[in-house]
Amino acid sequence: MTNLTLRDDARALHITFDTGESATFPALFLRDNCPSGFHPQTLEREFDLTSVEPDIAITEARLDGADVLLSWSSGDATSCFSLTWLSANAPGRAFADAAAVAPTLWHGDMTKEQLPTAAASNLLSSDAALQSFLTETKRTGLAIVNGMADDADAGMTVARRIGFLRETNFGITFEVMSKPDPNNLAYTSHALPLHTDLPNQELAPGFQFLHCLANEAEGGGSTFADGFAIAAGLKEHDPEAFDLLASEPIPFRFQDGDYDIRKHHTVIQLDHTGTVSELRFNAHIASVFDMDASKMDAYYRAYRNLMQMTRDPKYVMTMKLNGGEMVIFDNRRALHGRAAFDPSTGFRHLRGCYVDRGEFDSRIRVLSRGQTAAQAA
Ligand code: OGA
Ligand code: ZN
Repeated sequence: MTNLTLRDDARALHITFDTGESATFPALFLRDNCPSGFHPQTLEREFDLTSVEPDIAITEARLDGADVLLSWSSGDATSCFSLTWLSANAPGRAFADAAAVAPTLWHGDMTKEQLPTAAASNLLSSDAALQSFLTETKRTGLAIVNGMADDADAGMTVARRIGFLRETNFGITFEVMSKPDPNNLAYTSHALPLHTDLPNQELAPGFQFLHCLANEAEGGGSTFADGFAIAAGLKEHDPEAFDLLASEPIPFRFQDGDYDIRKHHTVIQLDHTGTVSELRFNAHIASVFDMDASKMDAYYRAYRNLMQMTRDPKYVMTMKLNGGEMVIFDNRRALHGRAAFDPSTGFRHLRGCYVDRGEFDSRIRVLSRGQTAAQAA
């Protein structure tokens, strides 16, 4: 049976739900989230927190069917909360999120065949196929789309099914091919060691889409590694290095005739719970380290150890992309690279674009919402 108890100072409500679970709701939290303070259509909060005193108290709390009715010491409103809302939003409890997909770490023995794979036509025509593919892609941080139309814009078309594209100084899309006057090593035929793209940006692009239009030259195989698995390995075997890479920012920089984009970041980013949320690793655009000389030996040791792990077959998988395939990966998690190729032996052309994590997650949530509604109907 549901039970309501006001704390002695009337500045918190304790609820025991009929499931047996219980939670404490501070008065100010309840007043701030009173449903009447939200615009009914936009669902945005219009309530002004400064319009009530911080020591606002609950003068009465009573159960009315599946609702809880509250009166306030401010006398300015009565609030009606559903028990369902209260249970879902109990302080300290993470609320349901279809995009909160726990990562599954993978290692060098991962194969192209084992990766989440979908046909472009399915992703374009079926919301259910898109929803399950995006969820799986979020889990691994790396996936394949095959059956891509032989059209330079086909990658963008799939990416735009997910969200709007993240434009960078390289454009809305970028052409990865050997070019005469390159401003980026990717635009040569040289090997690219494992890296993440654009850590020199304030926020590195999230999901990267690389549509392989042609890969006929000798060489040009792809390499990938799960940055979360590398970080986990480092934390286990060299915790000092892990801590240093997670705490000491280093400068990253890209410069050409038009741009000079710089930012300091740590190589390993932890979220507020201490979980690794991002890796930024790109030796090409790591700038000149500017930490105090006294820190350099320890930092270089840690950084070099991480770099060595990006060469270790324990972590690195290799595959060859074929024309008509597209690889999608979380650029803030997976590291990617390629072997050198010989442009005299054939044409190699990848076309890339990015969709940030926020839009990717949003699409998973909206597609899940659609499915929940369809199931409920
Ligand atoms: C890039 C890149 C990989 C490839 O363009 O940033 O890493 O296979 N390209 O050419
Ligand atoms: Zn790259």
